[in-house]
Amino acid sequence: MEIPASRWYSAIPKRRSRRQFDSKPVDPDHLARLYSVCAEFKPFPHARAVLVTESPKRLFKGIMGLFGKIEGAPSFVAFIGNMESPYVQEEIGYTREGIVLGATALQLATCWVGGFFRPDVAAAVAGTGENERVLAVTPVGYAKESQSIEKKLMTGFGRNPPT
Ligand SMILES: Cc1cc2nc3c(=O)[nH]c(=O)nc-3n(C[C@H](O)[C@H](O)[C@H](O)COP(=O)(O)O)c2cc1C
Repeated sequence: MEIPASRWYSAIPKRRSRRQFDSKPVDPDHLARLYSVCAEFKPFPHARAVLVTESPKRLFKGIMGLFGKIEGAPSFVAFIGNMESPYVQEEIGYTREGIVLGATALQLATCWVGGFFRPDVAAAVAGTGENERVLAVTPVGYAKESQSIEKKLMTGFGRNPPT
């Protein structure tokens, strides 16, 4: 796939993690375009992304404290790695960045979730093969307009302070 570099580059400053989603379904045209990005953006043989147009109730783990709970997303992307590759984490990380920017370029909200989700629940709907595991997911949908102060603060997590 030829990377739409200028579209993805412009998406970088717009991307923010969002955890509260509007339950309205994603525009089918945007969904189809994101589906193509997931199917075609595959820079490594051991990492792939699958767009799932449902979001099982138990997919995200709700925890208090470190991260807020992810709620209301109508769909998600599963990032699936083949554990035979010694670089599977890096391959998934790179693939995930591209897909997230592709989603942002379509005005869709995301949140990288590498820890607080249930890989077995994701695998059951995304489908995994031998030696494959779902290493991360992102909810996909339209963000709710307003964010609580707590969630706005959470958005700063992991960012470098302004210089
Ligand atoms: C490797 C990695 C794993 C993460 N796992 C989770 C997670 O399981 N749940 C969650 O809500 N946020 C998780 N985050 C945090 C968000 O994806 C995001 O980085 C953070 O909220 C900062 O917001 P920003 O992306 O708008 O800068 C993770 C971040 C990284 C880098």
